[in-house]
Amino acid sequence: MVALLSPELPAWERWTRSGSPPRWTRMRLTVNDKAKDVTPEPGESLLTTLRDRLFLTGAKPGCERGECGACTVLLNGEPVYACLTLTQACDGETVTTVEGVARGEALHPLQEAFIAHDAVQCGFCTPGQVMAAVALLARDPAPSDAAIAEAMSGNLCRCGTYPKIARAIRSAAAAAQQQQQQQREEGSR
Ligand code: FES
Ligand code: FES
Repeated sequence: MVALLSPELPAWERWTRSGSPPRWTRMRLTVNDKAKDVTPEPGESLLTTLRDRLFLTGAKPGCERGECGACTVLLNGEPVYACLTLTQACDGETVTTVEGVARGEALHPLQEAFIAHDAVQCGFCTPGQVMAAVALLARDPAPSDAAIAEAMSGNLCRCGTYPKIARAIRSAAAAAQQQQQQQREEGSR
């Protein structure tokens, strides 16, 4: 039984194996670099916690069943559908939403690129698209077209901005590479 309830198991799996349903529990998340104490209902989604308790409304409720990607946020740096993520399984974890990627007044380079390449129409899918792209460039700074298509395949856009989104991602990646190259050259002088 001890092994079954190992703290290394994800919280949801510990509950499942123990047969004890989760109860209202105060817990702490780090959201956009700030500690946030929340007391979610059992079964509450991370999307609900972010939007209704923390008033971070960037992540959007679209399908709310893991099909559209409008709710995409980063959990410990990995993109997840917040609508399918149980908040109580995130105790102690780090969450980044679209509100957390800009630095002060400066938009994230991907946000700038989405604007520059007109990759936003109604904008409903955009926060999720940006977060999926942020995660992509963090793990693959120079993604191929195929890698972009694969990484963004979980994010739908009913306005059909896919080619523009791909262009924006390629442009942001190229700009970051160029900047790094310049920094290397300046450092070697
Ligand atoms: Fe979460 Fe659609 S709202 S995947
Ligand atoms: Fe409208 Fe993507 S810009 S859904």
